Amino acid sequence: MEKLLNKLLADLVVEYHKLQHFHWFVKGGDFFTVHAKLEEYYDEINETVDAVAELMLMNGMKPASTMKEFLKLSGIEEPKAGYVKTDAVFKAVIADFESLLKSVVAVKKAADKAGNDLISAKMDDYVEHFTKALWMMKQTTMK
Ligand SMILES: [Fe+2]
Repeated sequence: MEKLLNKLLADLVVEYHKLQHFHWFVKGGDFFTVHAKLEEYYDEINETVDAVAELMLMNGMKPASTMKEFLKLSGIEEPKAGYVKTDAVFKAVIADFESLLKSVVAVKKAADKAGNDLISAKMDDYVEHFTKALWMMKQTTMK
């Protein structure tokens, strides 16, 4: 379970920076809305990063804590440099949040198997968070 939690932690850290990158480099007619929404998302992820690391420490595990480790462990791809249109931002963030949701579910399943109710229950919050964010982002297109 420690390995899965460190993977989730690394995914969250890389996604935090990726969302901030998009917050800075997004371009489009709906800039103000998307710029603000991205800040809301990375602020929430920042809180999750701390909560996951401390959840690991509470359970006698060692969270990864350096950028080198995070980049090595994360399955989230870093963004390309430069400006990006809002629809491309949503496309990338939807794919990333789907991947994060999978990582969260993997941790929950491992916690259930190990009989760790605390970790399992905490993952429920994140399942809800990412599922809701995904539903909302998908409302931005007619597809
Ligand atoms: Fe800002």
